[in-house]
Amino acid sequence: MLSSTNENIKNSSITYDPGKAGIFYFCISNYIMNVLILGSGGREHAFAWKIAQSKQLQNLYIAPGNAGTANCGTNVNIAVTDFEGIKNLVWEKDIDLVLVGPEDPLVKGIHDYFLQDDVLKEVPVIGPKKDGAQLEGSKDFSKQFMQKYNVPTAKYETFTKNNLEKGYTFLESLKPPFVLKADGLAAGKGVLILNDLNEAKNELKSMLMDAKFGAASAKVVIEEFLHGIELSVFVLTDGKSYKILPAAKDYKRIGEGDTGLNTGGMGAVSPVPFADDAFIKKVEERVIKPTINGLNKEGIDYRGFIFIGLMNCDGDPSVIEYNCRMGDPETEVVIPRIESDLLDLLIGVGSQTLHEKKYDTVKETATTVVMVSGGYPGDFEKGKEVTGLTDTKDSLVFHSGTKFDNEKVVTNGGRVFAVTSLGNSIEEAVNKSFANAGKINYDKKYFRKDIGKDLINWKS
Ligand code: AMP
Ligand code: GLY
Repeated sequence: MLSSTNENIKNSSITYDPGKAGIFYFCISNYIMNVLILGSGGREHAFAWKIAQSKQLQNLYIAPGNAGTANCGTNVNIAVTDFEGIKNLVWEKDIDLVLVGPEDPLVKGIHDYFLQDDVLKEVPVIGPKKDGAQLEGSKDFSKQFMQKYNVPTAKYETFTKNNLEKGYTFLESLKPPFVLKADGLAAGKGVLILNDLNEAKNELKSMLMDAKFGAASAKVVIEEFLHGIELSVFVLTDGKSYKILPAAKDYKRIGEGDTGLNTGGMGAVSPVPFADDAFIKKVEERVIKPTINGLNKEGIDYRGFIFIGLMNCDGDPSVIEYNCRMGDPETEVVIPRIESDLLDLLIGVGSQTLHEKKYDTVKETATTVVMVSGGYPGDFEKGKEVTGLTDTKDSLVFHSGTKFDNEKVVTNGGRVFAVTSLGNSIEEAVNKSFANAGKINYDKKYFRKDIGKDLINWKS
């Protein structure tokens, strides 16, 4: 498929305004590839924004996308798990590369689906096959994998309804807080951290016996609580070599001072002051290399992103979880810090030539402040008209949950925007994000005003 579009080389120009945030990108170059991004969040807008800048891009499609991604390419209203719809789109638009944003299609086997099709198998899919996606799709698998390949992680055991009593005994052997994890995907809600032993036993019972998280909690991982400070490290791999992307810290709770319910993420900062070069070197030696080697030894040909959720425990990394994709909102700070051509890197992933690809990052700090719908992460209303997007300046406004309604941008999700800024310090960057989040308006908007505050005067 690559060859067919190589013949279509043409000169074009685009003027790109990321969410009308006041940063313009102008480019005249040879475009050679048609790319499809799957997803509809801020992560996918950040990918689309970056790929739209590539000299190797001809046409960009986003399925289903949002009102922001429509500024970078063409949105196509197909769901990320509608494999047949995606297949038809790939044929119709002569797509040369597919970048998968969320985990759901990966865990359900979109990459395998492509490989089983005589025509589609030639199209690189960035994201692992079902076997590799188990790193995220099954906590039990990922814990076994870590144990087998000596990746530092919390002590654990896995239980089913057949050995509930053993689960109780294991809980009794641990110190609180107790960490209970549904084995499968549970829309980010499958992890419970409880202080009380009886409550932990009751929750274990309800997960295993009453299917509290449906089939996802047919198995439950119980693990030791890790004390430390959390961060995420991202790796892009073609299965043989890898690039370590900028690290990020996200802010998971809805309330300021890390209070209230867990969310998908309320903000992020990159780089992370408590992840200096020496710490990242430890992560590389103790986590990344054994992970890549382990995947190889298991015969898993993994091509895509690995998101490593880590605890920094007094300077030593311990893995909390793997995800088979990039994080959201972490992508909105990681991608703007990559100076190199992301599409070129992804082409390297598809062709296993990543080691040949140029990879540079910018030194500046990136922060993102997530604007949400009032009520999130509980019930919230959609369809609120957004104003003020054209008033923003010096930030990238990535859309997370928006759509067009008769040419107007309206809210369409819990997380609505991720307002990203670059600066010479966390303070400088985050103040730009706060100022611009203040200018964007919709009924019942909310954002945390303390993103990055804990890190501003960080001394390790
Ligand atoms: P996970 O889905 O495994 O990332 O867990 C969700 C969140 O729970 C993590 O981001 C951590 O904040 C917290 N968490 C999970 N496992 C542990 C652990 N063993 N010790 C401390 N916190 C944890
Ligand atoms: N921000 C956390 C995640 O993407 O899973």
